[in-house]
Amino acid sequence: MADGSWYDADIDRVIVSEEQIREKTAELAKQVAEDYREVDGVLLVGVLKGAVMFMADFARAMGRHGRSVELEFMAVSSYGQGATSSGVVRILKDLDRDITGRHVLVVEDIVDSGLTLSWLLRYLASRSAASVEVVALLRKPDAVKVPVSVKYVGFDIPNEFVVGYGLDFGERYRELPYVGVLRPAMYGKV
Ligand code: IMP
Repeated sequence: MADGSWYDADIDRVIVSEEQIREKTAELAKQVAEDYREVDGVLLVGVLKGAVMFMADFARAMGRHGRSVELEFMAVSSYGQGATSSGVVRILKDLDRDITGRHVLVVEDIVDSGLTLSWLLRYLASRSAASVEVVALLRKPDAVKVPVSVKYVGFDIPNEFVVGYGLDFGERYRELPYVGVLRPAMYGKV
């Protein structure tokens, strides 16, 4: 158990620490800045709400590497059974602008089954983006089952339900600065 804040008591173990997230975000941004050195104004597309923390930190890290970025957000809901997404997606908030000819980088908190992401990539491609790539902070092993190309991955994590750094359980724990696994007793409490 980590210690310090109220939420530490609810966490069984930390999977990715605050420091690891900071270092990896800087590393990913450096790589992306290099790969997009010819592109001015990469368009980052974050999916609400989970990607908010990573989006904010990743955008600032890109800025530190001298790349200008623009930010867009989408909100989607995935129809699924419990924790499993089905790949049938409804748009709750669409892009605010035309992305024709833009170099789009989807910023994802986690790729689990990959179903939501593969739908999103098809959708963005249909809106005539010049290129669409993905940077995901976390990826679970099941993600390999769906043929979705994630060019930049932060951490491959075990197939467990995690919270923190944008990820929630019943809308709680998004503000945790790290990613961790909840104590089993917490699942009955929301
Ligand atoms: P996918 O379509 O199965 O890849 O699911 C993607 C979405 O499910 C993510 O963007 C998260 O919002 C959510 N999700 C998947 N795994 C977890 C988890 O371990 N904790 C919290 N949310 C998760």
